[in-house]
Amino acid sequence: MPDSIHRSINNLQAYWMPFTANRQFKEAPRMLVGAKGMYYTTDEGKKVLDGCAGMWCVNAGHGREQITEAIRFQAGQMDYATAFQMSHPLAFELSSRLANQLPSTLDHVFLANSGSEAVDTALKIALAYHRARGEGNRTRFIGRERGYHGVGFGGTAVGGIVNNRKQFGNMLGGVDHLPHTHNLEKNSFSHGQPLWGNELANSLENLVALHDASTIAAVIVEPMAGSTGVLIPPVGYLDRLREICTKHGILLIFDEVITGFGRTGASFGAERFNVQPDLMTMAKGLTNGAVPMSAVGINNLIYDALMEGPPEIIELFHGYTYSGHPLACAAALAALEIYENERLFDRCAELEPYWEDAVHSLRDRKNVIDIRNIGLVAGIELLPRDGAPATRGYDCFIQCFKEGLLLRQTGDTVALAPPLIIEKEEIDRTVEILGNVINSLD
Ligand SMILES: Cc1ncc(COP(=O)(O)O)c(C=O)c1O
Repeated sequence: MPDSIHRSINNLQAYWMPFTANRQFKEAPRMLVGAKGMYYTTDEGKKVLDGCAGMWCVNAGHGREQITEAIRFQAGQMDYATAFQMSHPLAFELSSRLANQLPSTLDHVFLANSGSEAVDTALKIALAYHRARGEGNRTRFIGRERGYHGVGFGGTAVGGIVNNRKQFGNMLGGVDHLPHTHNLEKNSFSHGQPLWGNELANSLENLVALHDASTIAAVIVEPMAGSTGVLIPPVGYLDRLREICTKHGILLIFDEVITGFGRTGASFGAERFNVQPDLMTMAKGLTNGAVPMSAVGINNLIYDALMEGPPEIIELFHGYTYSGHPLACAAALAALEIYENERLFDRCAELEPYWEDAVHSLRDRKNVIDIRNIGLVAGIELLPRDGAPATRGYDCFIQCFKEGLLLRQTGDTVALAPPLIIEKEEIDRTVEILGNVINSLD
């Protein structure tokens, strides 16, 4: 390893790490220095099986030459193109290609750089749409408990995670939340979509009655909530939300930052669950994690409503310096090509039964209180220790890493979401390591 890398990792104080217990981490750092295919390499030269596709993003596996080459070529060709009142061909090519892949009414694409930005963009477009139609009173958003929509002020406000909100006070005003759909009594150990719980969508009618439809701009949900521990939508739940939104003229936003690009065994959750949103956010798998990029898919009605007025007027006062960054576009186009050529979304669907059996084989392990799965995703929930919630989950994460498996931990749930190139033997290995670790924990 070059000296410069040693020097940089020896100064651990300067970098304030995101969503990390900084002082605990810096006592015993975990450093990744290489990645290829299904494996990371640590600074100690150890191989670690990537059980969570980085952070739900490296769907085609690490170090894909085609993506690396596309980025390299583009960096040499044109590093950056002015993004406002100017553009470059790749931004249009990527948007057209994405629009072809999105649910049929989502014909337009706005480009941003992170899931959080995509969420805030979608929320702002929803507000601008209603205002353009003379319904400027529709300013309220409905999110869901245990929803995660990134860390912008909008996304944090519509999100439903207490720890993400309480440090920061009041957030965006005029937000309410649906109940989450997680219920251990009714749904534990469901295979795929739980059968109980679609009636929870009816609480949207209660919120409409409380606030009046004329004040509500949009409902935003993840089709499957990933970050708070893999909460799979009950059968019929998303359909019911769609019905109620349509009935009251409320826009439905699907946050597909995790569920996009094959994770559930279809292009998007919208396709897997057969429910069409009006706006859809995407990020992560869009570039296979190689360059930050996100996007919002927008339906025709919304786009058309904003393309009114004199053509020289800017229709949406919103955008980012790096919207449609050339390197990100190059990476995304290469990633989409890999997904298609290697039929990775179908591969996910084909592996799903094997995956489902494998993860549910952990059912009788010590302290396992629930297992949830869909596509190539699983959540394994452990019984919290008395008076010390989340410590068993954290120990599981640390111990798995020591044994050569990287997974995600949220509270006492551990989540798995491997690259879609995973082989059956690697699924077996994942479950073997996790099972042994779970048994070894007090
Ligand atoms: C559903 C969802 N929305 C938004 C985000 C935020 O994305 P980012 O971290 O790129 O801002 C995430 C990140 O995990 C996510 O899972």
